[in-house]
Amino acid sequence: MARQPIPHPILSTARLRLRQFDPADTEAMHRCFSDPDAMRFWNHPVHTKRIESERAVRRFIDCTPSYYRFWAVAEAETDRCIGMVNYHDGHMRAKRVTIGYIVDPARQRDGIATEAVGAMLDFCFGELGLHRAQALIHPDNTASRRLAEKLGFRCEGQLRDHLRVGDEWRDDMLYALLATDARG
Ligand SMILES: CC(C)(COP(=O)(O)OP(=O)(O)OC[C@H]1O[C@@H](n2cnc3c(N)ncnc32)[C@H](O)[C@@H]1OP(=O)(O)O)[C@@H](O)C(=O)NCCC(=O)NCCS
Repeated sequence: MARQPIPHPILSTARLRLRQFDPADTEAMHRCFSDPDAMRFWNHPVHTKRIESERAVRRFIDCTPSYYRFWAVAEAETDRCIGMVNYHDGHMRAKRVTIGYIVDPARQRDGIATEAVGAMLDFCFGELGLHRAQALIHPDNTASRRLAEKLGFRCEGQLRDHLRVGDEWRDDMLYALLATDARG
């Protein structure tokens, strides 16, 4: 018998509502993906055309929950999208995922990522029963490293030439949080 599709879970926090993406979120994501600073350590080059962000949002709407899922991070009061969190590279048997996140440049340094990623981790360790969440972070990405450490992730080492972006090889720091670790 075919499995029922899993409904996209809405995750609520004090200020945020993490929900499924909608094509209307394209503008918000284009603000992130076209910003050279926000994209400095991302896994693909800056988007120069809106259509690139439109395609990305279309991919975000789709999901294969056992492998990846993207949430639009929206303000609870207005439902306006101000970022994205995701898990990907899921290995449900090994109870492991890798996570990613980006916040609108105009809304950074206000605790949005701490709140949104925290809610997604609650879902991953609670609802999904996962054991390990990983984050792959460029060594110079101070904001992301600080966020991971604040949430309780530990650095497990440096992966050399782990990512190829355009013509450039990049190292990643491997961070991980276990379900049994103390959370930040
Ligand atoms: C990483 C990112 C999501 C953090 O979002 P945010 O909403 O600004 O994060 P928060 O406000 O919750 O801050 C989390 C911690 O990081 C620190 N931080 C945030 N931005 C920082 C910066 N630019 N430099 C140093 N520390 C920073 C905060 O001070 C806070 O730590 P503290 O409470 O000890 O002071 C955001 O900078 C971003 O979108 N970056 C571009 C995309 C990216 O690189 N994603 C990660 C790929 S691995």
